[in-house]
Amino acid sequence: MVDFQAILNRIYQDAKAVKDKGVVASYIPELAHVDPEAFGMHLRTSEGEKYGVGDFDKLFSIQSISKVFALSKAMALIGDAIWKRVDVEPSGNPYNFLALLEIENSIPRNPFINSGAIVIADILLSNLKNPKADFLSYVRELAGDSSINYNEEVAYSEKNTGFKNYASANLLKSFNNLENPVDAVLDFYFHQCAIEMSCSQLSKAFYLFANKGSCMQQKQHISNQQVKRINALMLTCGFYDEAGEFAFEVGLPGKSGVGGGIAALLPDQFVISVWSPGLNKKGNSKLGVHALEQFTTKAKLSIF
Ligand code: DON
Repeated sequence: MVDFQAILNRIYQDAKAVKDKGVVASYIPELAHVDPEAFGMHLRTSEGEKYGVGDFDKLFSIQSISKVFALSKAMALIGDAIWKRVDVEPSGNPYNFLALLEIENSIPRNPFINSGAIVIADILLSNLKNPKADFLSYVRELAGDSSINYNEEVAYSEKNTGFKNYASANLLKSFNNLENPVDAVLDFYFHQCAIEMSCSQLSKAFYLFANKGSCMQQKQHISNQQVKRINALMLTCGFYDEAGEFAFEVGLPGKSGVGGGIAALLPDQFVISVWSPGLNKKGNSKLGVHALEQFTTKAKLSIF
């Protein structure tokens, strides 16, 4: 039997001692206020055992981790029609890279880079009755927790400074790959990114991706085949131009956000979430990636 708590404790001690914890994101001004010393980690097995260390119950901005919830909802709503508008290839470029979009006729490489996620946001806007309320309800339902909310200050902060996302959305619109007005799509997108959750809430909300599409409440939201595809996309594209490195070091499908969170999973076994706000050069949590590498190495558990 692996002693998960002992492994997490060890990782926590090591993380606390690290001097260079990376750089907290500041291009969304509201995110810059976060304590760079915060560190939390939470593991939830498919049998319901829970292990946590540090700030695992503290809320943080999930940012791009929300793209996995958005993709799963869009897949549930319109299925394979998504793939006419977004591709499934790693981009090998930063999450906010624009040049490929024009070269490739405004079909984003994948649903996790910003341009791809903006197309998914457009799909949700067209297919949900009350997009912001319905999306929040979906995330709450997955986590089994009605306290989860948008942080309006963070959404507003990105609305005022998200120039690259405006550029990307305008390009998508010019190529007819957005159905709704640019402002409406970005308002939704900035809100989905501004959801706040803790590591323990993320471990619950990601349960369906480790358990064949059925959430903790035993409701089947997406098919087994759709989960296979989402996990493949997390593995190949979840960390942008660091996806290869993450697969190489950690060996789990996962998704990062510039709030410093990462959620990752081993199918049928567990979900593991980590939060450390300092980012590396690729915009992923510096200590978060390291902590997950330590975890899969010490526990000898990965998909490989
Ligand atoms: O669109 C943005 O730039 C942010 N709302 C989300 C980016 C992000 O989280 C990238 N992940 N590491």
